[in-house]
Amino acid sequence: MKTEERTLQVDLGDRSYPIYIGSGLLDRPEFYRRHIPARQVMVVTNETVAPLYLEAVLGALQGFQTASVVLPDGEQYKTLSVWNRIFDELLKRRFNRQCCLVALGGGVVGDMTGFAAACYQRGVHFVQVPTTLLAQVDSSVGGKTGVNHADGKNMIGAFYQPRCVIIDTRTLDTLDDRQLAAGLAEVIKYGLINDAEFFKWLEVSIDRLVGRDLAALSEAIERSCRDKAVLVAADEREAGSRALLNLGHTFGHAIETGLGYGDWLHGEAVAAGMCMAADLSRRLGWIGGDEQVRIRALIERAGLPVDPPRSLGRERFLELMSVDKKVLEDRVRLVLLKGIGNSLVTQDFDQAALINTLDEYGREQNR
Ligand SMILES: NC(=O)c1ccc[n+]([C@@H]2O[C@H](COP(=O)([O-])OP(=O)(O)OC[C@H]3O[C@@H](n4cnc5c(N)ncnc54)[C@H](O)[C@@H]3O)[C@@H](O)[C@H]2O)c1
Repeated sequence: MKTEERTLQVDLGDRSYPIYIGSGLLDRPEFYRRHIPARQVMVVTNETVAPLYLEAVLGALQGFQTASVVLPDGEQYKTLSVWNRIFDELLKRRFNRQCCLVALGGGVVGDMTGFAAACYQRGVHFVQVPTTLLAQVDSSVGGKTGVNHADGKNMIGAFYQPRCVIIDTRTLDTLDDRQLAAGLAEVIKYGLINDAEFFKWLEVSIDRLVGRDLAALSEAIERSCRDKAVLVAADEREAGSRALLNLGHTFGHAIETGLGYGDWLHGEAVAAGMCMAADLSRRLGWIGGDEQVRIRALIERAGLPVDPPRSLGRERFLELMSVDKKVLEDRVRLVLLKGIGNSLVTQDFDQAALINTLDEYGREQNR
């Protein structure tokens, strides 16, 4: 089914760029021609996405001098050593400093490719072609790029904006249900952060989204990208309000790190993390019990976990949260809610309530 094509803009002065959203966009040459001021183009992808979409993208890049590098698939490969393979290929093929990288894949490929573009010859152009829902609504927009270190996720990286983002909703056809749900976690996040109307729309539309209704998915992608673009434009380098995008992420990172990357998906960890943030907000008297129930219900209907794994008890959670890069000095800084669609970044809350939340979720372990 064809859906209407939509274009948004991320406003960042001379680094502004468009986001194109529609079905069947990735094999349309005009998007690449319009935004790639280069002759040499390296497509970076992975071994799962390459057989699905690489040929189509290379076809659309006819007229450019193209090459590709296919990385192993998985968060465990988001490392400096695997990342280095992109440079091996660029140098082997004598790509110059006017070249362009195209990231074709999910958030892992996008983050690694963007970081490679930031560093190769001190910075070359890059284009995002995100193929997971999570990458389409979140990681491909905003210019955060990087790789993991054994001691922390996304600890090495750069802010580096793409020339454009090409979101082909048709690529979601091949994405499995679990990955689709993981993307919906980030979609729900935007409603909670600052878009109560969107949250209400999600409550009405969640079954269509889970059922892969393309019109509903396009609408959710557009609204998510629009919400993210506003936050990024206001605070590109996360000096302040952009940190709202980390709702659920401090708890979520603790879950991901505590279990070892790859057990829970990023979006699943964020989903449980948002439920924990809602629980803490309710304990502080900032949201009502009815709002907490609505939040959990929507996340559950999206097919996502609403509780963290019981194997992580309070002490382990605290330990994991204190190595998170969003921790300032000794007090944990969290994104919490003052209502659905009303969030804040704060260290100024009763830390005993945090302990109560961790005890609630880890109670079997803490006994
Ligand atoms: N830069 C940011 O602002 C930002 C924001 C959120 C998340 N992230 C990062 O994004 C990563 C998670 O991204 P993700 O959820 O896309 O994971 P991912 O990139 O690992 O992709 C998930 C899986 O789907 C496969 N896949 C991708 N597209 C497919 C398609 N169309 N059909 C079938 N399979 C497909 C991938 O090969 C992979 O196996 C994490 O590393 C996280 O840190 C970055």
